[in-house]
Amino acid sequence: MKIVSVIGARPQFIKAVVVSRALRALPGVREILVHTGQHYDENMSEVFFRELDIPEPDYHLGIGGGTHGQNTGRMLEAIERVLLQEEPDWVLVYGDTDSTLAGALAAVKLHIPVAHVEAGLHSFNRRMPEEINRVLTDHASDLLFAPTETAVHNLLREGIPSNKIYLVGDVMYDAALYYAEKAERQSQILTRLGLRPKGYILATLHRAENTDDATRLRVILEAFAKVHREVPVVFPVHPRTRKRVEALGLASLLNGVLAIEPVGYLDMVMLEKNARLIATDSGGVQKEAYFYRVPCLTLREETEWVELVRMGWNRLCASMDSFEISQQMLEQWVGEEDNPYGLGNAGRLIAERLISTTRGN
Ligand code: UD1
Ligand code: UDP
Repeated sequence: MKIVSVIGARPQFIKAVVVSRALRALPGVREILVHTGQHYDENMSEVFFRELDIPEPDYHLGIGGGTHGQNTGRMLEAIERVLLQEEPDWVLVYGDTDSTLAGALAAVKLHIPVAHVEAGLHSFNRRMPEEINRVLTDHASDLLFAPTETAVHNLLREGIPSNKIYLVGDVMYDAALYYAEKAERQSQILTRLGLRPKGYILATLHRAENTDDATRLRVILEAFAKVHREVPVVFPVHPRTRKRVEALGLASLLNGVLAIEPVGYLDMVMLEKNARLIATDSGGVQKEAYFYRVPCLTLREETEWVELVRMGWNRLCASMDSFEISQQMLEQWVGEEDNPYGLGNAGRLIAERLISTTRGN
């Protein structure tokens, strides 16, 4: 059985490594890895391949840095060429990025079955590029691997046949378990930054709704700076955000916090685990906060990971008042215990289901 996996953005490297490992452990499976190039900086791409032992991509398409339309269109054309050459049994796509949609579209138009990992998530905010990417990918897919029960319900409500949907848990939970020990052993980040466990707040920010709105971006950065006067705020800055901050003349606000370059996964795990609170608009980071039982303030109006809000670990904050945001960041809380993301075996379940579906079981 031949599978083409399409990846391209930071969170996809972390999701795909889990499934790749499970696939490659099965006899008779050949995985062809396609990196679209959507993320291309060393610390947004290569570092993950190195640290997580991700196999070298078989194809690197080098497509990134454009608009959504440019990226998606160019990827579609280039992925189609790969698929025509490789003639795989499946195309495997992850999450909700432009690389996900391009991979799914290229495959369905060639009548190659598509499997979508992290299917069924919704923010119900159609202004988000990710929401469009997810919905279209789900509807183009033949196998939909849902991370949560909520995701399964979303898919059923949209009329996706139940025999295409499999609740497998969250591959990011698999990754958190798999790399926990390696992170503890290898990461020196706390010492390097002079941080005390539970003595700092970790922040990340990259969503269009926060970075592309000048007022909102300024308000959030002002909140970070206010908090930093009381508790250090460590802020690994996404390149998209860095560019916006510079273009809007807000660079001086970054001097008010501990702004660093994006870090590798192992350092990120240690920063997350030891934070007293995480403030973020990232999807993956919200869940990782829960894996390490760290309270999370989500700097958005809505979240796809609604179970975290229900359990009390995650609070939403879309305030336009920097004082209010800073006050919320300085609070601390705990939520209820539950197990919404599976057993840490999502990668294996996905690999096995792909095989059994191909054989017609
Ligand atoms: C993308 C995904 C988003 C995901 C995020 C993870 C889409 C629509 N969005 O957002 O869902 O949460 O990745 O991080 O696919 N840039 C660099 N170097 C890089 C990568 C990006 O400089 O290595 C800059 C470029 O100016 C680029 C901009 O960031 O144009 C945006 O990158 P893009 O991949 O389009 O979207 P993200 O905001 O990273
Ligand atoms: N991450 C990382 N270094 C960073 C920021 C994030 O390794 O500097 C990891 C994080 O631990 C998580 C993933 O990247 O596993 C989340 O990616 P991101 O926030 O870019 O995207 P999203 O999850 O919002 O799509």
